[in-house]
Amino acid sequence: MSGNRTFTMIKPDAVKAGHIGAILAQMNEAGFKIVAMKYTKLSAEKAGEFYEVHKERPFYGELVEFMSSGPIVAAVLEKDNAVEDFRTLIGATNPAEAAPGTIRAKYATSIGENAVHGADSDENAAREASFHFAGTEMFA
Ligand code: RTP
Ligand code: MG
Repeated sequence: MSGNRTFTMIKPDAVKAGHIGAILAQMNEAGFKIVAMKYTKLSAEKAGEFYEVHKERPFYGELVEFMSSGPIVAAVLEKDNAVEDFRTLIGATNPAEAAPGTIRAKYATSIGENAVHGADSDENAAREASFHFAGTEMFA
């Protein structure tokens, strides 16, 4: 059975562009409930650790630099089938390929600076949630 929680970040590009409110509203309208949330900034070291799975990819350095370039919003969200439904809501990694109306189609500027993160499995959602939040900071 698929889980009911996912983890997201509103990335530095979308924060800088003033899209926090619109993006959160679209998540809420799609049925996602906020379980945990914070406005924070990742150090390069923390961003590197978060995206460790991509360490060997050519874009890793650029990704770490971008994700530590400014504040982000980190959140845990709840909905039936959360991981899959949230990936549908955000759209493809490359905004040029993202379906119309998806968060990336509306707010992402490039494949690297693509407005939002969404966990890609229940296991990673749980890992990423505990990377950012203590159990006492999550409210069902
Ligand atoms: P995310 O993890 O942020 O939700 O994105 P994703 O699953 O759609 O894509 P993933 O393959 O996990 O890549 C993580 C992030 O790395 C940046 N990226 N840049 N320049 C490039 O070719 C490239 N490819 C990926 C993006 O910020 C992507 O979201
Ligand atoms: Mg990913």
